[in-house]
Amino acid sequence: MNHPLTPLVILGAGGHASDTLTIVRAQADAGVARHAVVGFVSELEADHGRAVGGVPVLGGWDALDAQPAADVVCAIADPRVRQRVVREALARGRRFATLVHPAAVVSPRVAVGAGCLLSAGVLSTDDVVLGDHVIVNLACTLTHGNRIASYCTLAPGCRINGGVVLDEGAELGAGAIVLPGRRIGAFAMVGAGAVVTRDVEPGATVAGVPARPLARH
Ligand SMILES: CC(C)(COP(=O)(O)OP(=O)(O)OC[C@H]1O[C@@H](n2cnc3c(N)ncnc32)[C@H](O)[C@@H]1OP(=O)(O)O)[C@@H](O)C(=O)NCCC(=O)NCCS
Repeated sequence: MNHPLTPLVILGAGGHASDTLTIVRAQADAGVARHAVVGFVSELEADHGRAVGGVPVLGGWDALDAQPAADVVCAIADPRVRQRVVREALARGRRFATLVHPAAVVSPRVAVGAGCLLSAGVLSTDDVVLGDHVIVNLACTLTHGNRIASYCTLAPGCRINGGVVLDEGAELGAGAIVLPGRRIGAFAMVGAGAVVTRDVEPGATVAGVPARPLARH
């Protein structure tokens, strides 16, 4: 039996908002969609009246309030901004969806929190836990023992090896590799292409092979 689709508002109107529309459209193409995107909501007035992938940016917070039946996801890649925007939406009583692309291989035994966005090509073993509002972009691999806290962002192609822990809001650039058992502190940033061989301090920015703190950060 076909269930009616729940309307969905995507918070943000940038690149990852567009990628999130891709996830919902792929779900529809595969016959597994639960949502239909009604529009984007952005705090940036310059976004209002634009369209993303042919879908309108409805406006700001008032436009979200005007869609009381809609589920919400936040597709803003920056963890701190995402956290702030999610908190505002929660304060307005909104319910968050979790979206998994049909071409992601993520078993039902993986714990995935509210508001997570998993793109095509994500591969995960079973013993993995994702908090709330985690973004896992194209072709990331997650493996046994990974504990990925809320508001983390993984750019395309990250390799998160066994036993790795990402604390709240940790952000990994494209293609970053984290060696087994390492821990990335809260709101730390790992540069694109880095190989993380040591634990990373909260708030630090590291880059390179092996990853080292960037001097001016
Ligand atoms: C690491 C990062 C956060 C640093 O950003 P930044 O603070 O603006 O750094 P800058 O561009 O000013 O570069 C500072 C120095 O670090 C170097 N650097 C920057 N990024 C680097 C990286 N990923 N690996 C190695 N070195 C890097 C620069 O060459 C520069 O070196 P220099 O001082 O010798 O010239 C950023 O470069 C990065 O890798 N971001 C991830 C982007 C990404 O993958 N986005 C995903 C989109 S889907």
